[in-house]
Amino acid sequence: MRSNRRGMALLAALISVLACAPADEPPPDQAMSAVAHTAGAPGIGDPDFPTDGNGGYDVSHYALAVDYAPTTKRLEGVTTIQAAATQNLSRFNLDLSGLDVRGITVDGSPATFARKGDELTVTPSAPIDKKARFTVKVTYAGVPKPAKDSANLGTYGFISTADGAFVTSEPNGSKTWFPNNDHPSDKATFDFAITVPAGVTAVANGELTGQPTTAGGKTTYRWSERHPMATYLATATLGKFDLRQGKTPGGIPNFAATDPKFRSSLDKLYTVSGEVTDYWGTVFGPYPFSSTGGVVDDYAAGYALENQTKPVYGGFEPDESIIAHELAHQWFGDSLTIKRWKDLWLNEGFATYAEWLWSEHKGKQSAEAFFNDYHKRPASDPMWAYPPGRAKPGDLFNQSVYTRGGMTLHALRKAVGDQTFFQLLKAWTAGHRYGHVTTDEFIALAERMSGKDLGPLFDAWLYQPRRPA
Ligand code: TRP
Ligand code: ZN
Repeated sequence: MRSNRRGMALLAALISVLACAPADEPPPDQAMSAVAHTAGAPGIGDPDFPTDGNGGYDVSHYALAVDYAPTTKRLEGVTTIQAAATQNLSRFNLDLSGLDVRGITVDGSPATFARKGDELTVTPSAPIDKKARFTVKVTYAGVPKPAKDSANLGTYGFISTADGAFVTSEPNGSKTWFPNNDHPSDKATFDFAITVPAGVTAVANGELTGQPTTAGGKTTYRWSERHPMATYLATATLGKFDLRQGKTPGGIPNFAATDPKFRSSLDKLYTVSGEVTDYWGTVFGPYPFSSTGGVVDDYAAGYALENQTKPVYGGFEPDESIIAHELAHQWFGDSLTIKRWKDLWLNEGFATYAEWLWSEHKGKQSAEAFFNDYHKRPASDPMWAYPPGRAKPGDLFNQSVYTRGGMTLHALRKAVGDQTFFQLLKAWTAGHRYGHVTTDEFIALAERMSGKDLGPLFDAWLYQPRRPA
């Protein structure tokens, strides 16, 4: 044994001498740090959207300065990003679609950059050490072009309108108007300074930080969202708007805006949004943000998006059901955010179930009746072939993710009983407030709180390409 050990030690010494041969010696500056500085990945690691987001850093704050001229459709922007490196970085990427980059600094020093598709690669003048905080400032301009047809969605991102813009960016359209880390797994706080021609209103997330200021025929609106937000929820919806501001009966600041064409919807939007926000606070747990409200613009999208604190409704008068849906997303999607797009039912299934709960609350059709109506659909209905627990990148917003996702929650409610089910909803929102979630975490919590093996139920409802019994 002894001699064997000595033989091993000699061999190890020999190997290490060979490994340290002069040709392999690192240059002196790299030798100082344990790991060499390398390029951050061009994607954040979502296998379904491999180039969405970026690796190597984590954003904590975006400060957006945007000047938009509705007549020329030209946007001039300065985006200041505060981030921390999660590896030793020689360079890193941002996501940006179209637009001309004028200059980039990192910690105040000019950086070089290159563009390929929607990837903007930034090489700082000095490498960035792991865990170091750094500030990136990107100056850019151009006519934003919305994204089209990704994931079966039509047009999304920064969409110009006659009097301004309609900005709805799910799943990856925020890169159409500012450079960022465009994936929900990196949330950050936001400040906005939006300059528009006097007479145009700019509505962004969070709250106004003061009165708008006007100079030289232009008005600047300053908004601040102090809670972490996914990039797809950032908005700067611009146009002529009538406003109603105040508080919900429960005391939450409430901001409603309607395009003049939808002036008759303003009071209903304001009142119902307030009532729904307060009610969801009793069902899902305390409202996570500092204000609520909504915007109706005259862009005929035919859909709505749950922009944080400011859902926008595109070209229609929203009814109670869709307001209930978009405001439920403030808990499910906005406060609790998915790490991967495949888990989208955690957003859409919950918000759809919220529509049924709202109807039940109002003494109209019960959630059970909604469930039964859908369950009656024939085995050949496409909803049964699409397992909602694994949203497909090419068909992310399939109806199954909404309806069968909602049915999953009702099946769960029946299995665990109302008391456990509603305790579970509150525990879920409390446990992951402002954070990230996965389906496995939800199933684990449901099993822990009910004491039941729910594996077969979730498997049948979320993962099988057939109608559950
Ligand atoms: N999340 C939206 C909803 O169901 C739907 C949606 C997805 C959307 N992508 C969008 C809306 C892009 C507007 C723009 O509430
Ligand atoms: Zn939704």
